[in-house]
Amino acid sequence: MSVCIIVGAQWGDEGKGKIVDMLSEQANIVARYQGGANAGHTIVFDGKTYILHLIPSGILHPATQCVIGNGVVIDPVALMEEIHMLEGMGISIEGRLHISHKAHLIMPYHKMMDAAREKQAGSIGTTGRGIGPAYNDKALRIGIRIVDLLDREALGEKIRTNLAEKNQILRALYDVEPLDVDAMIDEYVAFDTQIDPYITDTTTLLNNALKDGKHVLAEGAQGALLDLDHGTYPFVTSSNPTSGGACTGLGIPPTSITSVMGVVKAYSTRVGNGPFPTELEDATGELLRAEGHEFGATTGRSRRCGWLDVPALRYSIMVNGISEIALTKLDVLGALDELKICTGYTLDGKTLKSFPADAQTLSRVTCEYVTLPGWRSSLDGIMAFADLPQAAQEYVNTIEQLLDTRVVWVSTSPNREDTFKK
Ligand code: GDP
Ligand code: IMO
Ligand code: MG
Repeated sequence: MSVCIIVGAQWGDEGKGKIVDMLSEQANIVARYQGGANAGHTIVFDGKTYILHLIPSGILHPATQCVIGNGVVIDPVALMEEIHMLEGMGISIEGRLHISHKAHLIMPYHKMMDAAREKQAGSIGTTGRGIGPAYNDKALRIGIRIVDLLDREALGEKIRTNLAEKNQILRALYDVEPLDVDAMIDEYVAFDTQIDPYITDTTTLLNNALKDGKHVLAEGAQGALLDLDHGTYPFVTSSNPTSGGACTGLGIPPTSITSVMGVVKAYSTRVGNGPFPTELEDATGELLRAEGHEFGATTGRSRRCGWLDVPALRYSIMVNGISEIALTKLDVLGALDELKICTGYTLDGKTLKSFPADAQTLSRVTCEYVTLPGWRSSLDGIMAFADLPQAAQEYVNTIEQLLDTRVVWVSTSPNREDTFKK
């Protein structure tokens, strides 16, 4: 039995999809534990690109089972689109996708509330996928769950009650036209018939699999610094991407976890608003964005780019219990003459000993940097650490030393094959 949790160690988009896909070949089950269609996980192989929002990145390995756990919030529209996309690309889902009956549903009013709130001052820059409002209803105990789809009468009642309240809010606060309740009930009843074959008790499924000695990969979405509790609040998502979220989001015990792998991009990016100490708002940032194709896989927005941030990563390693790192996008840095790594923060002339708890403080820190030589060459075709240019090896070794954590995988292109062990 083993459970490896794969977490994004930064602000998301570290390349989790690529790493989970690669490791899926050895896994019996890949399980998503939080978030929703705000995630965009990209996998590239055989000249095809797959962008997954809800379905685990194990789906491209035919022998691997996939679970969408209770901690995920499911948008039926996005889910059906994704199932059809995969089937259209020749991937068989039948008998391989298992959706928790305890997962909450994203309703049309969640997306409308998300969009309406984003128009207000001080917005977070969400993906607009209804994530915050859906988790809000879950915490308020008025959420609608997959299991509620089974009882048509109760489902109708719940939607009616919720919508009566949401329509008032939408109209009064955001000047949005009311939504039609009967159309919404019909839509969700139709959805039930489509996803019925996939719904199951995934908590029991996973725990039985563990008893049978199976190997499970728990796939995080977003990243540790977007965690609702541990991230740069309030500029965060509404769930717990950190490793602890895997237990609550899947219903597996902490004692079943065997390792936590952090996916770290060789530099930093962030989409949406919020503090970003190492951000490069200059030609170097532009170069990283262009070379790394740093545009959101879900919304297409430009990703903000910056240097690698060791204080943020040390914090992420601590909170997640990361014991090994998969380092991605090393190739992108081949475009730069020299590379900087932020090794510490100072505030008002004093060195900070820990990662600030509030966004306001984090936005005021000054970064201390070390500068390393670049290698100014392509990493195409390199399949062993020893064959990397000396400066690239030095960059990776420096990261390991500064983070006091082993880099076990190095990724040098979007393609499935271009990953090797350090
Ligand atoms: P995720 O959300 O963590 O799964 O990451 P995304 O898929 O949103 O963003 C990562 C992007 O970088 C995708 O376009 C990947 O195809 C791409 N990518 C992943 N690993 C590498 C790598 O090592 N080198 C390069 N150049 N691109 C990579
Ligand atoms: P993956 O899994 C990067 C960001 C949004 C916004 C904040 C809150 O692909 O790494 P939300 O829609 O969740 O309420 O938005 O979180 N965000 C992500 N940034 N990658 C993601 O997912 C993200 N999911 C949400 O941009 O700043
Ligand atoms: Mg992404």
